[in-house]
Amino acid sequence: MKIAVAGTGYVGLVTGVCLAEHKHFVTCVDIDDKKVALMKAGISPIYEPGLEELLAKNIERLNFSTEYKEAYKDADVIFIGVGTPEKQDGSANLSYVYGVVEQIAGSIEKDCVVVVKSTVPIGTNDKIEEMIKSRLVHDVNVYVASNPEFLAQGTAVRDTLHASRIVIGVEEPYAGEVLKEVYKDFDAPIVVTNRKSAEMIKYASNDFLALKISFINEIANLCEIIGADIEDVAHGMGYDNRIGNRFLNAGIGYGGSCFPKDTKALHWLANFHDNELKTIKAAIDVNENQKLKLIKKSRKYFDSFKGLNVAVLGLTFKPGTDDLREAPTLVNIPIMLEDGANIKAWDPVGVDNFKKIYHDEITYCNTIEDTIKEADVCFIFTEWDEVKEFDLTKYNRLMRKPIILDGRNCYDLISVKKANLTYDSIGRETVNSLEYSLA
Ligand code: UGA
Repeated sequence: MKIAVAGTGYVGLVTGVCLAEHKHFVTCVDIDDKKVALMKAGISPIYEPGLEELLAKNIERLNFSTEYKEAYKDADVIFIGVGTPEKQDGSANLSYVYGVVEQIAGSIEKDCVVVVKSTVPIGTNDKIEEMIKSRLVHDVNVYVASNPEFLAQGTAVRDTLHASRIVIGVEEPYAGEVLKEVYKDFDAPIVVTNRKSAEMIKYASNDFLALKISFINEIANLCEIIGADIEDVAHGMGYDNRIGNRFLNAGIGYGGSCFPKDTKALHWLANFHDNELKTIKAAIDVNENQKLKLIKKSRKYFDSFKGLNVAVLGLTFKPGTDDLREAPTLVNIPIMLEDGANIKAWDPVGVDNFKKIYHDEITYCNTIEDTIKEADVCFIFTEWDEVKEFDLTKYNRLMRKPIILDGRNCYDLISVKKANLTYDSIGRETVNSLEYSLA
């Protein structure tokens, strides 16, 4: 099958490469010619484990181009995988999607199925169909299908090749049959439904996961007050398979390009229809507060960051990605800098992106050891393996004051006590080996 994919971000590029892995011929279209040149040379413009290897392996079935007309004109299937960032009011910005839709309408010369992979508000697929049909240049049949994406950054290739499910939203059987053919070699159950339900499955899934995280974070905050341990609580809850043991990791809040945007977009959509999603609103509010949790905790140890040497471990919103979108560091670091902190930061892959925002204000280090040397306090924002596996005795040896504020519960409390650290994490007992007078 001849396939075109619009957009080479996480969704578009991973989709294109995985379709090529399953023997389809795929042209990935992007407006950025530098990115296109990189991909043509077998280099992935985004950091995603396994992607570059798979791209190189399937390079013969992959084409990368800025020439959208060529790519769309005789494609059997065109996937739309461009971004839908958040607007100021929380609604989804569909201008990139609509831009591609116009291009498709002006290019296609034979019958084709247009597949919307981008996360779009409920009802957008209908609008896309209307737009394409009203702008067609050639007399062809176009079918629009919703096929939301469930991949997570850092595991995107695995999540696509072995998806939890493939959701296909169609208004007539033909497009569903074509998509079943596209996915016939993928190892995943297929759910076929109407377009609006498919669009809703995507939002409801992401918002439910965000809700789960905000829920466990609220329980964690209460655990701290009453003296329970959130790790044990989550462990105990997770055995109930109606609850499940995943996405119960308490921490400094969810970030990334999806949960913050999709919770706000669904909330906005409900408001637009004079409806209120109270649970989603709560998830959003809890998350905003949670991002400041470590700063609030730090006030127990010092009133101000002025003149303090602060070590920051992890800059990205989660491990396995160089993506900084909605990362807790973007909320915390400005506060620390504003307050006069001297910050040294470490991240295995996120530094280049962070430098684009904070170039000179922060010292970037290549090792955790250099980052924590002479520090008065260390903040952990991302649970990279290098942080989790770090020799705890080094904090005591290298830091001026071994106070660790851990937003990702990287260490067990017994090891922390043995290493003689002052350690504050999320939803667990504070270990105050240094016996700082706590406010
Ligand atoms: C998320 C979903 O997991 C994917 O299924 C979905 O396809 C994707 O959004 C999307 O809509 O494109 P992603 O944003 O890449 O994927 O990352 P997640 O692994 O879900 O993590 C999101 C945030 O939640 C991270 O900041 C992570 O640290 C946080 N999180 C996750 C927790 O705080 N606790 C947990 O237990 C799990």
